[in-house]
Amino acid sequence: MRSTAEDIIRDTPQLPPPPQVMTDLLVLFARPEVDARRIADAIAGDVVLSLRTLKVANSPFYGLSKRITSVHEAIAILGFRSVRLLVLAVGAVGLMQLPPGLRTSLGELLRHSTRCAMLARLLAERTGHSPEEAFTAGLLHDVGKMVLVQATPRAGIDASTPHRWVEHSDLPAEREAFGTDHAELGMVLLERWQFPDALCESTGKHHEAPDTLSPLSALVALADGLAHTDLERADPFPPERLAPWIARAMGASPLPDAAELAAAIDEADALARVLEPDA
Ligand SMILES: [Fe+2]
Ligand SMILES: [Fe+2]
Repeated sequence: MRSTAEDIIRDTPQLPPPPQVMTDLLVLFARPEVDARRIADAIAGDVVLSLRTLKVANSPFYGLSKRITSVHEAIAILGFRSVRLLVLAVGAVGLMQLPPGLRTSLGELLRHSTRCAMLARLLAERTGHSPEEAFTAGLLHDVGKMVLVQATPRAGIDASTPHRWVEHSDLPAEREAFGTDHAELGMVLLERWQFPDALCESTGKHHEAPDTLSPLSALVALADGLAHTDLERADPFPPERLAPWIARAMGASPLPDAAELAAAIDEADALARVLEPDA
């Protein structure tokens, strides 16, 4: 399966190039002593990333009264932690591209990924993981779906409805059609982009059984499961099907209650609206 995923990624020229600035930023963010100025310089050095970051920073999501005109100013006004998160979000969304005919599917993928990211961040705060790492892992967990829609399915598979590969997660069907699935494709893509091992693994394993997962991977898988849960109707809450992931990801920490999770989802939806490429 893995070699098939590698072949598909090699044969899909439309995929965006490896984002050097994002991998640099993830390395800088992982250091215990963060040098805000160096990070601001790294972001400012990537014109597209900094312009997109400023556009979102000036959007109604942040509700600022004054227009921000530089990354350094964004850090001074919004705070370093928010700008770190914002840059990761803008960078990750920049990586998620789909052909023009699949705009609606891209919107759905962005909304789902942002929800998973915000939930993963909340769970990370409760369990002592890095919130930024969890947030980025949540944003990118389904990045392999953008490869699926651009890959050619095997002979005999109906290729007329590519949006279904984005809007549904049916791993056995994906394996039948492509010889691999979106989790593995995402992992191979992130490895190729030289993303940190923890993010490659959490992307590759987010549909696997919880007992094989690292704490970060379990956290992302749980956030994904919660993002797919109708919190208002979940009875009982939390749903029993998530119990093994909750035990693995949360350890001794309690799961946030339904109201806290719903607030994170509302925040995610507001962020997703401003993150859409043409928003
Ligand atoms: Fe998935
Ligand atoms: Fe997902």
